[in-house]
Amino acid sequence: MTIPSKSVLVLGAIFGAGCASASAPDPAPAPAPEAAAAPTPAPRAAEVLAAATFTEDQADRGRDTFRAQCTECHYSSEFSDSQFKFKWSRRSAGNLYELIQTSMPETAPGSLAPEEAVELVSYIMRMNGFEPGASALPADREVLDAISLSAIRGE
Ligand code: HEC
Repeated sequence: MTIPSKSVLVLGAIFGAGCASASAPDPAPAPAPEAAAAPTPAPRAAEVLAAATFTEDQADRGRDTFRAQCTECHYSSEFSDSQFKFKWSRRSAGNLYELIQTSMPETAPGSLAPEEAVELVSYIMRMNGFEPGASALPADREVLDAISLSAIRGE
C-alpha cells in the first residue's frame, strides 16, 4: 500500500464534508465508511485535484448570470472586498456553491440550475485571483467541498 498522504488528505476532506452542514466552518472528521464507498481511492483523489479549477468560459457565463440576476441587489465588488475575503478564506467552494444555490437570488432561492451556481462560484473565484484552467469546475458537492478558498486572501 503506497497511497501518498496527500490523497488520503483529500479523501478525508471529501468524506468529512459530505455529511457536514454547509455553514459549519470546520466539519468534524466523519467516520469514513470502509473503502466500500470509494473502490479506487487514488484515481478519485487525482481526479479531485485535477478538477480543482474552472474554465474561463464558466467564469464568463457566471458574470453574465450575475449581471442578469444579481446586480439588482449586489455590486460585484462586494464579492472581492476585504470583508468578503476574510469570511470566505475560511470556507470552501462548496460552501459558496451551497449558499448561492439554496438562498440566491433572494427573491427566488433555489431557482438557479446547478451549472449556473457553479458558474457564479467560478466568476467569484476569478474575481478573487484564482486562475482559470483547462478543466471545468463540476457541479459536484464533494469536489467543491474539497476546494479550499484559503487562497482568496492572497493579495
Ligand atoms: C433581492 C435581493 C438579492 C438578489 C437578487 C441576490 N441577492 Fe445575494 N444577498 C442578498 C442579501 C440581502 C444577502 C445578505 C444575506 C445575509 O447576510 O443573511 C445576500 C448575500 C449573498 C452572498 C453572501 C455574501 C457574503 O458576504 O457572504 C452571496 C455569495 C450572494 N448573496 C450571492 C448572490 C448571487 C450570486 C446572486 C444572483 C444569482 C444574488 N446573490 C442575488 C440579496 C440578494
